Amino acid sequence: MALTDVRPLQAGLPFGVRIGGVTRAMTEDPAIRAEINALFQRHGVIVFEGVEPSDAMQVALSNVFGPLKEHPVKNVSRVDGNALPGVVEIRSPAGSGGVVEVGGKQRSHWLPWHFDHAYNDELNYAGILRATEIVDDGGLTGFTDGVALYNAFPRDLLARIEGKTVIYTLNVQYENMRFGRPDGLKVVRPKPMPPGFDEEARRMPRALHPAVWTRDTGEKVLHISPWMAEGIVGMENAEGDALLEEVCQTINALAGAMSYFHRWSPTDMAIWDNLRVLHAVSGNRPEDGRTMQRTTIRGDYGLGRFEDGAAGGAILRETTV
Ligand SMILES: [Fe+2]
Repeated sequence: MALTDVRPLQAGLPFGVRIGGVTRAMTEDPAIRAEINALFQRHGVIVFEGVEPSDAMQVALSNVFGPLKEHPVKNVSRVDGNALPGVVEIRSPAGSGGVVEVGGKQRSHWLPWHFDHAYNDELNYAGILRATEIVDDGGLTGFTDGVALYNAFPRDLLARIEGKTVIYTLNVQYENMRFGRPDGLKVVRPKPMPPGFDEEARRMPRALHPAVWTRDTGEKVLHISPWMAEGIVGMENAEGDALLEEVCQTINALAGAMSYFHRWSPTDMAIWDNLRVLHAVSGNRPEDGRTMQRTTIRGDYGLGRFEDGAAGGAILRETTV
């Protein structure tokens, strides 16, 4: 068996691919599994179209890429009554969530460019998303590739950030975002957090990840999450902060022309390589509800650590944002 429907994600984009018509039976076929993994390694993002919209299919597709990982934050909800471990429900009821004004519109559930688990020493290889409650206006998931960013980055700025280590904390509030804030971002309503979340976040040591790393393919990846970035190791001063802000704003600017924003259909699933690709959410009208389900696929690059050799605690090893 072989895949018959493979297309570029978007014309002119240096990453991403679309695959149509993958069935649950196909996810068990070794040749298909190898073909899908090779495409993922090469392209960093796959949008699967026309797939069975079920938890079982989401898990079957996830298992093509590797074992599932539980999420590192205990407060992240699992799909109700789901016997399948590792399927996390990201439910955003109408009128809930923080609200920002961005691009002149009020949006809830907006997220800036980031990679998942930046606040942890261990990252995850990938995540698979699907939409179970879709909004008409907004709610798009954006992807931009760190290999493409590295290749397009201004060389003088790259020379200043390559070799540096970036500090992250579990600091999810928009008003606390220190770097890469979009022009004109206004916080209308802070994000309501579940009980105990802030305490859990404060207990965590700061996580450190390299600004640039090299894949086994030899490709270099600019791998910086503007969201939750706190500073640069050894440069927690005005100079370091100015550098990180310039880098994060350059990511925002380049991503403007080198990103793909997915508008969801119930029969889509999308996977991105979290060790390489940044993602974002466009946000939606505050009066609309939106629900996503995701799995998290285990697999780390081994380059993250906690500050001062801190252990991080069991809660982080359990593992999801
Ligand atoms: Fe995320």
